[in-house]
Amino acid sequence: MPYYPDDVVNEVFSENDIVDYVSRYVRLKKVGNDYSGLCPFHKEKSPSFHVSRDKQLFHCFGCGASGNLVQFVMRSEGLDFVEALKLLAERAGIALPEKDDGGGSKTQLLKKKIYEMNKLAARFYYDTLAKTDEGKIATAYFRERKISLKTLTTFGLGFAPDSYTALREYLTKQGYSDEEMLEAGLVIQRDGKIFDKFRNRVMFPIIDLRGNVIGFGGRIMGQAAENNGYKIPKYLNSAETPVFNKGKNLFSLNLAKKSSPYSIILVEGYMDVITVYQAGITNVAASLGTALTENQAKLLMKYCNEILLCYDSDGAGQEATIRAIEVINSVGGRSRVIKLRGAKDPDEYIKANGSAMFLKAVSEAVASTQYRLNILKVKYSFDSPEGKALFISEAVQVLRSISDAVTVDAYINQISTETGISRDAIYSEFKKHVALHSNSEQNAAERELKKTKQENETVMIVNEGSTKLLAAEKKLIYLMSSSKKAVDTVKESFEVEDFCHPIHKKLVGMMYDARKENKLIELSMIMNDFEGGEVNYVSDIFYSFEEFKNSEEAIDELIRNIKIEKITEQMKNEKDARVIVELTKKLNELRYGG
Ligand code: UTP
Ligand code: MN
Repeated sequence: MPYYPDDVVNEVFSENDIVDYVSRYVRLKKVGNDYSGLCPFHKEKSPSFHVSRDKQLFHCFGCGASGNLVQFVMRSEGLDFVEALKLLAERAGIALPEKDDGGGSKTQLLKKKIYEMNKLAARFYYDTLAKTDEGKIATAYFRERKISLKTLTTFGLGFAPDSYTALREYLTKQGYSDEEMLEAGLVIQRDGKIFDKFRNRVMFPIIDLRGNVIGFGGRIMGQAAENNGYKIPKYLNSAETPVFNKGKNLFSLNLAKKSSPYSIILVEGYMDVITVYQAGITNVAASLGTALTENQAKLLMKYCNEILLCYDSDGAGQEATIRAIEVINSVGGRSRVIKLRGAKDPDEYIKANGSAMFLKAVSEAVASTQYRLNILKVKYSFDSPEGKALFISEAVQVLRSISDAVTVDAYINQISTETGISRDAIYSEFKKHVALHSNSEQNAAERELKKTKQENETVMIVNEGSTKLLAAEKKLIYLMSSSKKAVDTVKESFEVEDFCHPIHKKLVGMMYDARKENKLIELSMIMNDFEGGEVNYVSDIFYSFEEFKNSEEAIDELIRNIKIEKITEQMKNEKDARVIVELTKKLNELRYGG
């Protein structure tokens, strides 16, 4: 573990039981040795989500989500490994050693203080809005924008009074220093003077997935204006602080994730989120006044299967939509685009047309590739061959970001029908682009995507070449996980490197290492060493429904089969006749005994 010693992590695992923990989220029923229920990570009607008390693992046969308890917490709470471990340690009353992150526990302490100050500030703004006379203009403003009192409390909206000192005085009384308030970004310093950052603005607290207030947005109650030649921005947002990283958070994701939605609607603004939510559509969030980042896209994809983009309908909104699609693609996510006609943004659309019409627009969301192709169709005229050619050369660039061949093929068919250009011509244009770009890719996202694609391809090639070999290795690994004898027997025959799949190599390496200490691997613990799709792969091995007999004969048989498969593979590629004769001899020995 990068942060904590193994024995501490071990203790956290042994003091928390996965079935107990998961039961709080999922209604589990005992089925044989396992428990099963409806998967919390995807929508389903019949239970394909399984939890094993013996293995301390969960596995969904529907969506493939898998892992140990820490991984369950990471996924369900949106935490990273260390945060999830902390949560479980706290739950079990285990004290984790403070990890030294450069500034050491001083940073931790400061973060804690900033959370406290932010919470106090949010309450202060809310109380000012709800309970004071000066707050009345803010309630009036929200009333005018058709925001109900209930919505005000749901989002904890507030009002920063028209004062340079109100919040600073309040926080001073609560025992916080100016330095601390500056660190939190709640006050600012200019010309040696320290004063409240947010003044005379309605306030939108930004809350993270653990319920901490991490920052604020504040809006003036009118149109953007000028003051002595200084333009007052419509919205003012918290600066980055030790607890607030704009690119890693989304406004209202804490509420959106609650319903475990299939999709999340992504809008541009605070008010859009609030109006959509108030209309009863709660799976909505906003990137914080910036272009969607990879981190935000990844975060969203943890909580839903697809992102429905619903940005402003102007040109800037369209450009932001295209960029967002690319970002979502680059992290392997799926998106569709909601088109709103005759309104600037979702807020105005709902106010003009009602929530039913908005829901209709949501249901008509188009696939992001189709959306991009539609824009190109408008851009180029199909009247001339040149127009068609230009269209196709841009269209194939759009198709390049699709990761599955079937979809690419379907779009190529469609483009061919629409333009009258042959499939083959479009396809060769497409291949040309793919080749061109794979040579000159600079951008990290693309490299990353390529890497995962390559990894997938390696898996595929191995799969195609020797499904039998892979299956036999998996069985062997499964049997080795519960028998030291099996590990010993396998070790006599195979080195780590003899296994064909990188994950198999890693697992076998771990088992050999554990054996040196006279131990077996612990499934729940080793899961920590795998990430993303690997976790699912590993879990599949140990979650097999098949019952294998763990006998000496079974192990010998598997070892023999693996050897046979390996030699068969080798023979396929061998051209040297002498080697082939050698290999055939070995094969016969294995098959029919010496
Ligand atoms: P918009 O200008 O589209 O505003 O900015 P809006 O959300 O429709 O707000 P209303 O309806 O006028 O109240 C979209 C988002 O961009 C960020 C904010 O997050 C805003 O919600 N923004 C906008 C800023 O951060 N600063 C600004 O000055 C303007
Ligand atoms: Mn708006």
